[in-house]
Amino acid sequence: MFPVRIGVALGVITALVIAFLSSTVALADGPWTNDPQGPQARAIADLYWIMFVAAVVVLAIVDGGIIYAGIKFRERPGHVAKQFHGQNFLELSWTVIPTIMVVSFSVLSWQKLDFINNTRGGDVGMVVQAQGSQWTWTFGYPHEDRFKLLDGSYLKVGEELHIPVGMKVRVELSAKDVIHSFWVPSVGGKKDAVPGRATELWIQADKAGTFKGQCLEFCGDGHADMLITLVAHPQSDYAAWAVEAVKEANRAIDPATTKGRETFLSLACVGCHTVKGTAASGKIGPELTHVASKKSIAGGVLSPVNEENLTKWIKNPPAVKPGTQMPNLNLSDEQIHDIVQWLLTLK
Ligand code: CUA
Repeated sequence: MFPVRIGVALGVITALVIAFLSSTVALADGPWTNDPQGPQARAIADLYWIMFVAAVVVLAIVDGGIIYAGIKFRERPGHVAKQFHGQNFLELSWTVIPTIMVVSFSVLSWQKLDFINNTRGGDVGMVVQAQGSQWTWTFGYPHEDRFKLLDGSYLKVGEELHIPVGMKVRVELSAKDVIHSFWVPSVGGKKDAVPGRATELWIQADKAGTFKGQCLEFCGDGHADMLITLVAHPQSDYAAWAVEAVKEANRAIDPATTKGRETFLSLACVGCHTVKGTAASGKIGPELTHVASKKSIAGGVLSPVNEENLTKWIKNPPAVKPGTQMPNLNLSDEQIHDIVQWLLTLK
């Protein structure tokens, strides 16, 4: 009988180990607490590991004791199960040691919480807003002039939060509909975004990169897909990102963009190109409905699709690509500028 039971026990243990390992592999892709890339995330990960190791040691001692006693003092042919009454040393140990552990964990956690909750210290270098709504995050940059748009509002970007490396950033949270929770574990902790209440946390990344985050409060059907992409830029590149992001946001509200659309639709362009949702339905040239999302234009000659290349192309197509069917329409610089601004909004 005994070997059979051992066999069953070993089988169960193996299954548990496999389950644990496979879940670890699945989680390796993140977001995952054990890939700290900033001071707060590191504080949390340290605490996690201290408690994890302590828990493993306790588990080993307790389960080891149970298994040892179960085998050694069990009833078997020729042996009666041994009975114990009172063991001062053991009873004292399993009262005092857990008490010391729980108190130590509390003190440790309390110290870290002090650090984690310090969102208003003088070391905060930047403030951003994060609004959760079913089922996406929108990040606003309302506190710096460099993020001001043409219409006086401030830059807002969906799904992606951009921060500079090595800077403590306060994230002010709000929720539009139900409770959501902001969590990018590589750069900080987790905090709920609650309708009608202001909450905040701070994050910091020590190295450049893209880090995954996730809404961590069940908020309805799309909860699992309510992701956050955090991009940490080297400080030297951050200003350039800001300029580009503001420029792109301005494009949508710039009167030149509307004018560019009208100009395009009033010229020969519509005879050759299709832009879905407009009167342009020409079939001779390439469709431009999503031209700003393409990798290149002019049959691959000009890449990427940006202001410079579009301008160059429209100004004099045959000069860029001899023999092209697209003629030089001799447009004014202003017309070209307006058209390019509009084309760049076609994503
Ligand atoms: Cu938003 Cu879960």
